[in-house]
Amino acid sequence: MKDEPLVLGIETSCDETGVGIVRGHTLLADAVASSVDEHARFGGVVPEVASRAHLEAMVPTMQRALDTAGVTLADIDAIAVTAGPGLAGALLVGVAAAKGYAIAADKPLYGVNHLAAHVAVDTLEHGPLPAPAVALLVSGGHSSLLLVDDLANGVTPLGNTIDDAAGEAFDKVARLLGLPFPGGPPIDRAAREGDPASISFPRGLTGPRDLERHRFDFSFSGLKTAVARWVEARQRAGEPVPVNDVAASFQEAVCDVLAVKAVDACRTHGVDTLVIGGGVAANSRLRAVAEERAAKHGIRVRVPRPKLCTDNGAMVAALGSHLVAAGVRPSALDLPADSAMPLTVVSG
Ligand code: KG4
Ligand code: ZN
Repeated sequence: MKDEPLVLGIETSCDETGVGIVRGHTLLADAVASSVDEHARFGGVVPEVASRAHLEAMVPTMQRALDTAGVTLADIDAIAVTAGPGLAGALLVGVAAAKGYAIAADKPLYGVNHLAAHVAVDTLEHGPLPAPAVALLVSGGHSSLLLVDDLANGVTPLGNTIDDAAGEAFDKVARLLGLPFPGGPPIDRAAREGDPASISFPRGLTGPRDLERHRFDFSFSGLKTAVARWVEARQRAGEPVPVNDVAASFQEAVCDVLAVKAVDACRTHGVDTLVIGGGVAANSRLRAVAEERAAKHGIRVRVPRPKLCTDNGAMVAALGSHLVAAGVRPSALDLPADSAMPLTVVSG
């Protein structure tokens, strides 16, 4: 529909420079330039390298998005940008660019929360989110369960990881197994050839005592250590490490805990829609396990397609579009980049 807002979103919180364009809930362009190859040999994202790569990719990625959508900056109704959380230097590049474009083209600017954007992106695929919904947000930096009423009014955190994030666990275990960075996709692939029941790895914070204090919290560092010990024991014994079986058993433990807790959160709060977002939501086994567990309780699972799960500009545009439609006031032009932006703040 022509009268829905045309919103451009800019994402630079980590290693992807993303520019997305949406009209209402319709995705028109999703241009992404990744610096992941430049970080691979370090086994993690190097902040300074990421910032420099954003600087180089910003203008061409913007042009690619505008060309794909067949619009010019003058046609855009509002510009949204990830203001946090993320790497400070990386965020600054996106926020500074967004301010420049907003001032040059005289457009309202919305500084938005990256995590809320990971939830909002699902609206591009499955339409408006029913209220309330439970969101499971699993990325390289976060693992959270949230109660979402209207994204424009903020979210209510139900639980968080108390140590490693789910994606971080994938990345660390991949490294142990000699698989490349980022570890999620290669573990996902290796696990398809392995037996998920071959090794029994721990499910963090699922014991009866944990459920009292940490019912909706996650812990993955014990699991990562258990995988490391198991692999070391094999290597000490001079035996080969069955990479596919370890990957499958590790992945099963992560997906099991995520799905059990997400379904428990839905049932506890009387919610029948679970939306999963963030890079780990691209995991094929998580999608299957969550659907299977949720279906038993009449809960519908919504997960965007894998390319929309990992960082991109379309998710920022999707949240911006929702804020514009809800009549939320734009951000001030001195909007800061906030590397520690709390989950409860949806726009700055
Ligand atoms: O959301 P995202 O792109 O960036 C952050 O905001 O952190 O998430 C990146 C994380 C990485 O840890 C990566 O290993 C993980 O998402 N990931 C996956 C898969 N694809 C990406 N984890 C498991 N399975 C996947 N297929
Ligand atoms: Zn992310």
